[in-house]
Amino acid sequence: MPQDTAALRSILSLAPVVPVIILDDVSQARPLAEALVAGGLPILEVTLRTPNALKVMEEMAKVTGAIVGSGTVRNALHMRQSVDAGCRFMVSPGISPRILDAADDIGIPLLPGIATPSEAMTASERGYGFLKFFPAEANGGAPVLKALASPLADITFCPTGGIDAAKAKVYLGLSNVICVGGSWIMPADALATNDWARIETLAREASQLRG
Ligand code: 3PG
Repeated sequence: MPQDTAALRSILSLAPVVPVIILDDVSQARPLAEALVAGGLPILEVTLRTPNALKVMEEMAKVTGAIVGSGTVRNALHMRQSVDAGCRFMVSPGISPRILDAADDIGIPLLPGIATPSEAMTASERGYGFLKFFPAEANGGAPVLKALASPLADITFCPTGGIDAAKAKVYLGLSNVICVGGSWIMPADALATNDWARIETLAREASQLRG
């Protein structure tokens, strides 16, 4: 089916920030998810960029309160694997006719990435009301989304890419932004040292960014 906008709206409205997770160490999956959920960020995007990404998703999906989605979804196989791993939504870096066709046959919603008004219109014509603006900062950031709010008033965005806490606050003040994605909540040194308390603190700060 086309994008299940009601399902996606209810997921993306649960928290202002979606942590974008790149993780290969399966033993870190549960404690990381627990820290993020405890900090108030239950929506977790696990990117398919590591050999163990699917196992990481499976572990995170077992954490009470966590709603796990797959990221960096590029094809129909990724979509089927995401469903099997317990994902509730999927995120792609861009749109292509093939990926939109494949998403039509999958029972969980896709949040596809766009970078231009033409791509947003193409996705909208296929029934998509929620889009990822990616890579957000490299493509002009909040001023671009602000400029799209009037001509593309029926489209809501989740900007991702190059965002930190200060920038997130600006995006979240826009009428056409439901949430933002980012990895700043999980600094590399905190992950390397299993510093879950620090990650929980950063998550808590992020969970309170919506004014
Ligand atoms: C990504 O695809 O890696 C996400 O956009 C996260 O970007 P960030 O690391 O710049 O927050």
